[in-house]
This record gives sequence, structure tokens and C-alpha cells, in this order.
Amino acid sequence: MQNLRINLVKRPNIKITADIFETVSEETKELGENQFLVEQTHMSLDPAMRGWMEPDTTSYIPPVNLGDAMRSSGVGKVVESNNDDFPVGTQVAGMFGWQQYIVCDAKMAKAVPAEIPAEAILSVLALPGITAYQGLYNVIEPKSGETIAISGAAGSVGSLVGQLSKIEGLRVIGFAGSDEKCAWLKEIGFDEAINYHSENLDEIVSAAAPDGIDCYFENTGGAVQHAVYNNMNAFGRIAVCGMIGDYNTDKPSAGPNWINIIRKRLKIQGFTMPDHQAEWPAMAMKMGGHLMQGKIQYRTHILDGLESAIEGINLLFSGGNNGKLIVKL
Ligand SMILES: NC(=O)c1ccc[n+]([C@@H]2O[C@H](COP(=O)([O-])OP(=O)(O)OC[C@H]3O[C@@H](n4cnc5c(N)ncnc54)[C@H](OP(=O)(O)O)[C@@H]3O)[C@@H](O)[C@H]2O)c1
Repeated sequence: MQNLRINLVKRPNIKITADIFETVSEETKELGENQFLVEQTHMSLDPAMRGWMEPDTTSYIPPVNLGDAMRSSGVGKVVESNNDDFPVGTQVAGMFGWQQYIVCDAKMAKAVPAEIPAEAILSVLALPGITAYQGLYNVIEPKSGETIAISGAAGSVGSLVGQLSKIEGLRVIGFAGSDEKCAWLKEIGFDEAINYHSENLDEIVSAAAPDGIDCYFENTGGAVQHAVYNNMNAFGRIAVCGMIGDYNTDKPSAGPNWINIIRKRLKIQGFTMPDHQAEWPAMAMKMGGHLMQGKIQYRTHILDGLESAIEGINLLFSGGNNGKLIVKL
């Protein structure tokens, strides 16, 4: 079988540009004992990939080595198999990278029921779902009646955090970068949706949260972070999930002064999804239950063909994606 693969061959100089990738065509290797061949059908594009391209070895996950396929999660089908647990036709999910065909062993892929659409796996049950679940339940520990603010709210993680928060009886305030995204947030049940490009953000946030903010799920940094931080209630909890506003710049924005952490006795905690991979089956069961009961909605932004990833990944940093960014191979 001929495999098309996109390797990372250079580190980005601030922005992700096409010249840091190289597309190669190669013959797939023969299957060994207990191995199986996966044809990837859907590939996830995520903001974290920008960090994985950096040479930093002190981060939570090693960098992608130059010359290796760009790292990504995906969903596919087994098309050849020497493993009885993964017969031909099995739907599988795993860290398959930017390529069409992957020779796998049992450690590299998880079987997923064929009736769950690949888009739902990548949008809800896999990375975004684990991230939303971990940050909300294990870091923030929400209580019914509290107010939560969420930056990057129309994105794959933020939209799940908001909907889970509604299920838990919270008042939910979401921030997004366009009126269209804000309208969608209202459609899926957010109490307030604020376009963060608005002038007088501080006043808008104070008016939207007359009783203050108890919980903050941080996905972006920037102006929203300051406006929310200024409105936090005593004993508030902040889950720091992402800072996408600073991923594509050499001038990271200044954070707020720490004095409020003491005055308001705030808890601020960062977390990363790979630390919680082992909890995936339990979280996926819960998220799957909500999904099947129609309590959680998602939307996808689909790109066509493996090579669309090269330019398409930048939609995440311009706000051009309307929903979970997925490449259909
Ligand atoms: N800790 C973890 O393990 C973990 C796991 C997954 C994701 N994350 C983080 O969670 C965040 C959201 O990820 P996602 O997968 O759900 O992506 P996403 O929200 O679906 O897509 C990225 C969105 O970020 C917003 N954005 C881009 N540049 C921005 C800027 N300068 N200021 C404010 N917003 C900006 C854009 O939306 P607007 O149009 O609204 O600006 C864009 O559509 C990211 O920071 C990501 O790194 C962390």
C-alpha cells in the first residue's frame, strides 16, 4: 500500500508556514506478528500542535522530532490484520500522525464502536472531551448555582465545558471572537456570550456577572483573562487549559497582578490532557452518555485531504475555524 505522510522538517519561526513540512510518498511496511494496518479517515488539528513543533524538551510532552510525521490524533479503519482483537473493519482511534496508513500494534490504537461517527469521537469523546472533563470536574470542581466564565468558548473544548456546566446547574458566560460564534453559544444554552473584541470589556463582564465569577476556564489569555480576573469572587477557581493568544507570538502578553490571588483566596491550576489518558474510558462513557441523550452538541469544521492540514492548521490561530477542526482524508 502506498502511504502519503507529512513530516515536520523545520521548527516554525513564530507562525506555522508551509516550508516547515515535507510530503513524502512511501510503501507501507509488511505487517509483523499481531500487527494491523489502519487507514486513517479523520485527523484532528489542535492548537497544542504549535507547542509540539517547538524544540522545548521541558514541556509536558516531547517535541516532534524533525523528519518524523507531524503528531496528531485520528480515527481510522483496520484494512489488513494479523491481530484477532483488531479484525478488518474495526474502527480505531489513536495518535496516528499526519499520514494515511499506519502499521499499528495493540498499544497504538483503541477500538471504538463503529456506530459512533468519527467526527463525534474527535469532537467530543477524545481530546476535547477529556480536556473539558478534567479541567471542569477535577480542577474547578463546580457547584450548582455558581457562575463560570469560559474563554475560547466556541471552540471544541470551551463549548463542551459550557454545556457540562449547564448540566451541573451553573450560570455560564462564554467569550468568542465573532458575533456568529456568540449566537451559536446562545443556541447551545450559554446564558451570556460576549464578543471579546468589544470595547469596554471590563464593564461588559461586570454587567454579565452581577454576582461575580466563581470559576474560570482559561483557553486564550489576553483581554478576557484580565476582565474575568478582576471580577472573581472569593474562593474562586481557575483552570488554566490553554493560552492560544500567546502561541504565535514572541511577545507573550503580561498576566494580571497576583495580589487578587491572596485577597480573593483564588486557586489557579494548570493541567494537561495527556496526564489523564488513563481516565479516558471513564470520561468517554460519561461524555458519550450526554451525547446520546442530546445534552451535548458539537459542530465541526472539515478540511478535505491530508495536505489541507498544512495551511488549514492556521485557522485555529486566526479564529477561522467554526467548530472542531478536522481533516477528512
Ligand atoms: N491543557 C490541555 O491538555 C489542552 C488540551 C486541548 C486544548 N487545550 C487548549 O485549549 C484551547 C482551545 O483549544 P481547542 O482545541 O478547543 O481549539 P478551538 O477553540 O476549537 O480553536 C481555537 C480558537 O481559539 C481562538 N483564538 C485564536 N487566537 C486567539 C487569540 N489571539 N485570542 C483569543 N482567542 C483566540 C479562536 O476562536 P475565536 O474566534 O473565538 O477567537 C479559535 O477558533 C487552546 O488554548 C488549546 O491549546 C489544552
